[in-house]
Amino acid sequence: MARKIELAPSILSANFANLAADAKLALEGGGTLLHVDVMDGHFVPNITLGPPVVASLRKAIPDAIFDVHLMIENPDEFIPAFADAGATWILVHQEACRHLDRTLHLIEDHGCKPGVVINPATPIGVLDDVLELVHHVLVMSVNPGFGGQKFIRNSLKKISALARERERRGLNFRIEVDGGVALDTIGDVVRAGAELLVAGNAVFGKGDIRENARKLLQAARSATAAHA
Ligand code: DX5
Ligand code: ZN
Repeated sequence: MARKIELAPSILSANFANLAADAKLALEGGGTLLHVDVMDGHFVPNITLGPPVVASLRKAIPDAIFDVHLMIENPDEFIPAFADAGATWILVHQEACRHLDRTLHLIEDHGCKPGVVINPATPIGVLDDVLELVHHVLVMSVNPGFGGQKFIRNSLKKISALARERERRGLNFRIEVDGGVALDTIGDVVRAGAELLVAGNAVFGKGDIRENARKLLQAARSATAAHA
């Protein structure tokens, strides 16, 4: 089955005073998902945004998929509000969920596609019993909390092991990678088996947002072509 490679610009590195316009430029450059990083100052050492910002963005951008990455404690308490605000996909951290199976069903019950995330120090084996429930698995390739960090190469092994496991069990979840994805790393993550590519700093950090997105997507696609 041909993989669909998609770029998910992470608005964490956008200009928050100009959020919708920045996000639109990234989508014009070829981004097909908008990755929204929600941080609570507890699960991760940073604070970003909540449901009102997602609702405003949704008004400004009615059609895009919003891939909402919850880096928060007690995600169950906030899933209904993010779903109401316009999230399309919702990701929760395995490390933040005491009852992960229940939380994934809660996301689905609110009409969103459930995804699960693991931190760099979390092995993929902890996901064995939820792989059938999830729409996507996000492998963090930095410790979450900040944009612009250095890519952790050990995540490549985890991505390829997950891709093998998916094949072995005949499952359909998609594999996403988040953190330090840029022109110098995007080929490696695609070759390892990831297809949803989150990029914050590499899209919004400097230069032309549209052009940055376009080049990243092109680099990702040429890595698949070389791989096939
Ligand atoms: C990190 C966030 C990422 C972040 C990635 O905690 O989950 O989505 O924005 O940023 P870059 O691409 O700059 O590493
Ligand atoms: Zn993220």
